[in-house]
Amino acid sequence: MHQYDDCWLRYDCVVESERLDSYRRRCAHAYVAETAPELSAVRDELRRALPELLGTDPHLWQHPPTTVEGFLAIGTPADMEMIAGSVPVDAVHDLNDGGYLIRSVRWNEMDCLVVTAPTDRGLVYGTFHLLRLLQTGESIEELAIREEPAYEHRLLNQWDTPFHRSVERGYGGESIFDWERLPDLRPRYEDYARLLASVGINGIVLNNVNTTKPSRASANDAFEAFEGWQLLESRRLEDLTGLASLFRRYGIRTYLSVNFASPMLVGDLDTADPEDPAVRAWWREKADEIYDLIPDFGGFLIKADSEGQPGPYDYDRDHVAGANAIAAALQPHGGRVWWRAFVYGSHEDRAVQAYETFEPLDGAFADNVTVQVKNGPIDFQPREPVSTLFGAMAETSLGLELQITGEYTGQGVHATYHLPLWKEVLDFDTHADGEDTPVRSLFDDDGAGIVGVGNVGEDHSWTGQYLAQANLYAFGRVAWSPDRSTEAITEEWVRQTFGTGEDVVDTVCEILQDSWEACIDYETGGLGLMHMMHNGEEYLENHYHPSPAEWPGYHGASTDGIGVDRTETGSGYAAQYPSPIADRYNSVETCPEQYLLFFHHLPWEYELADGTTVVQRLYDNCFAGVAEIKRLRELWHNLAGDIDDRRYHHVAERFDEQLAHAKRWQTVLTSYFYEQSGVPDEHGRVQDE
Ligand code: GCU
Repeated sequence: MHQYDDCWLRYDCVVESERLDSYRRRCAHAYVAETAPELSAVRDELRRALPELLGTDPHLWQHPPTTVEGFLAIGTPADMEMIAGSVPVDAVHDLNDGGYLIRSVRWNEMDCLVVTAPTDRGLVYGTFHLLRLLQTGESIEELAIREEPAYEHRLLNQWDTPFHRSVERGYGGESIFDWERLPDLRPRYEDYARLLASVGINGIVLNNVNTTKPSRASANDAFEAFEGWQLLESRRLEDLTGLASLFRRYGIRTYLSVNFASPMLVGDLDTADPEDPAVRAWWREKADEIYDLIPDFGGFLIKADSEGQPGPYDYDRDHVAGANAIAAALQPHGGRVWWRAFVYGSHEDRAVQAYETFEPLDGAFADNVTVQVKNGPIDFQPREPVSTLFGAMAETSLGLELQITGEYTGQGVHATYHLPLWKEVLDFDTHADGEDTPVRSLFDDDGAGIVGVGNVGEDHSWTGQYLAQANLYAFGRVAWSPDRSTEAITEEWVRQTFGTGEDVVDTVCEILQDSWEACIDYETGGLGLMHMMHNGEEYLENHYHPSPAEWPGYHGASTDGIGVDRTETGSGYAAQYPSPIADRYNSVETCPEQYLLFFHHLPWEYELADGTTVVQRLYDNCFAGVAEIKRLRELWHNLAGDIDDRRYHHVAERFDEQLAHAKRWQTVLTSYFYEQSGVPDEHGRVQDE
């Protein structure tokens, strides 16, 4: 028994005898090609899963069995004659990297299942897909599944800081990576790789984008603490090779966040100027060294000229010069630079800066540079309009950066589900290429992809709250298949995680799907206000508090009204969108209510379409958010007895905490609105703080 949860890879048998017979007939014998490391991972997974799912130990064959009723065959057509003879080989070769087929076939008078793919990574994904079907009790008698990932890159960004073995701002607690004990490998790393591969994630950036920010003392004085940028030092790179091989078995490439000034920090140069030949040579030598150790190394993630990290501006160079110099070093090895567009600081309204900085650079980045853009222009708020860069950089590979962790949505405490938020972003019509150019259509070139800021840590639940595992699951699934519905992805997760009882499935799905809007309401009042919080650093203390007074620039509240004017008369951010969107947001009549105060500064008693005033709507939404959390907590309570005690009580306690937080937000926010506006709540609920 290990000290952490199995998440959605529990492999509980959920089927009745007839279906179990079918599962046993087709899967109790398995014939898996021997060739690649990924296939040893497939074998190991079958050994873990099948005894539980079938109630019998599987027999793993080296050759196709002939004396059985049926079997499961996993391999590429080139690996196995049996597969080449039972599925259309052209259809396999048409699949992209990661794609696979699963077919129920009759072969030599046996009932077989074939999982095949053009690449070994595809076989890993196909195997996890098949196991998902068995875990959720689906029929496997007539399978004809064809799957391919929508995007080439589906990356996880760990924000783990080696210096204090912690994750940026706490989140799921301590980092699961025991940095100081590397190269030792812990079993948990493999279980992490399994979780990630099971949802199709194919890359992991191991360390925090902030590579120089040791804000706390090292947790353990017995070891030499080190900062993120030091991972490029030769001895630390050597320490990473085992971890990289472990992830490689699951088709996951390893990446590092690096410091732009590495030639000075790690090397002994006195400049990091990207145009300096010695700097370029240093990066080339470093890249050669890395690829010698980790041949499938993915590349570097770089936060430059952002929140105190060094960058090309230190040398009067632009982002293209900075990114391309480093990309040139990775290019011969097939590596890629992920260059973040999270820049602000030189404009009064930070929303305008990323577009102003990056849009003029469209087309100038090297082919192996991806510009990584957060979903909204501010910073992972509970809801933001979509960043204006999506649709504005047709000649650049873009990465959509989403936050899996709930930095602003309750961290490891609140049950806030992000999939509905991500779907809203992916479905947003950018009008980049006329009508019907949704965000999800912008990442189909080889350098593009979806990136998620991870939410795991050392906690038993991995994610601080068991329900937050759904965010990690949903991230992988939506990055694989952005067209799949929220309902389908959510239900899959619940069935694998909590079983297939209909009450449990319906209830947990409802809790998850309604949790996001509730969070928007109690944290922000639901009209597009940003940063209504102070975010702190400590794990599970609800590291952020309602703090409307902290950053008045974000919400524009004064005695005459509230909101930030981002139209032509204000910062002009709305005009960065193509005209149909700019027009919609610029006009107070057509701006959707959810973004109203993001784009407009309005009198407190401005009347909304239904006659309610702005301030009254803010009051009402804050109270509605709390009422909704009460309702979701009740729904959870209805599941007592249907869910194991550990998870049931943990989530119930988290809900108590969440409700207390939500009430506090509601009180602080509504009192603040009252104090500023002087307008009483029609229902008499709001008092001075
Ligand atoms: C936010 C967050 C930081 C993080 C930064 C980033 O500002 O609070 O902790 O480093 O985003 O995305 O780089």
